[in-house]
Amino acid sequence: MKPNYKNWMPKGMILGTLGGTLACLILFLIFGVSGLLAAGTLKTVLKTVFLVLAIVLALVTLWMWLLHRAFSYNDKRQMSKQIIDGVAAYVTLPEGGKGLDVGCGSGALTIACTKRNPKEMFGIDRWGKEYASYSLDLCEQNAQAEGVSNTHFAQGNALKLDFADETFDAVTSNYVYHNIPSRDRQAILLETLRVLKKGGTFAIHDIFSRFKYGDMQAFVKKLKGMGYAEVELIDTTNGMFMTPWEAKWMGLSGSAILKGKK
Ligand SMILES: C[S@@+](CC[C@H](N)C(=O)[O-])C[C@H]1O[C@@H](n2cnc3c(N)ncnc32)[C@H](O)[C@@H]1O
Repeated sequence: MKPNYKNWMPKGMILGTLGGTLACLILFLIFGVSGLLAAGTLKTVLKTVFLVLAIVLALVTLWMWLLHRAFSYNDKRQMSKQIIDGVAAYVTLPEGGKGLDVGCGSGALTIACTKRNPKEMFGIDRWGKEYASYSLDLCEQNAQAEGVSNTHFAQGNALKLDFADETFDAVTSNYVYHNIPSRDRQAILLETLRVLKKGGTFAIHDIFSRFKYGDMQAFVKKLKGMGYAEVELIDTTNGMFMTPWEAKWMGLSGSAILKGKK
């Protein structure tokens, strides 16, 4: 059995926007072309609105399909695998230690960390309907397919982790927090760091743009002020995981690894 890590751009989302495109085209034909239900200025307005909406949605659908192709584990580029392995390389666990992957999706990063550190890794995820192809069962099947037995998966919420303070020796996450609607994503980072033991390491990869996270340089300083060591934001869009051009067209500008030691 081969693992199936699915895709960060789920087919369901692409089909959703394709459906929206087709609906707008049908409404354009009904209101704008047939003249059955509207006439005069109203007909012109409806025709324009539905045509513009159909074009915008068609372009979004095309962009999402290109993203799906780029993120595919079966594509030659192997971008997702490169990112997962690259983040896992920063996750170090001491002998007998345990780590946490927040928003584990299909278990790719949790499993990659376990393969590098044959210790215990926990993966939690909300597994909501927007990523309907990811599930607890899928994570367990993937762990089995990869031949790792020391991974544990459970439902959980990054906004309020179901673990006591200082539970883990390492915490990690990949492309999760920017998806969570929040006015204060730095607070989500602090919630993840809450469950990290003193002396434990963290490696969190996400889109740390000012728009999504506010001033991350100030956050790095804040962590250092709290006694954290080796805190660094490593840009991953300079060829490390992707080229600047890939980051731009894929909407991943600002991608970086926030790493350090508590
Ligand atoms: C782009 S996927 C990344 C999955 C995985 N980290 C990876 O690298 O393959 C984003 C994941 O974040 C999860 N997620 C979104 N909001 C969450 C929350 N509040 N708590 C936990 N997981 C969440 C989604 O369910 C989804 O699995």
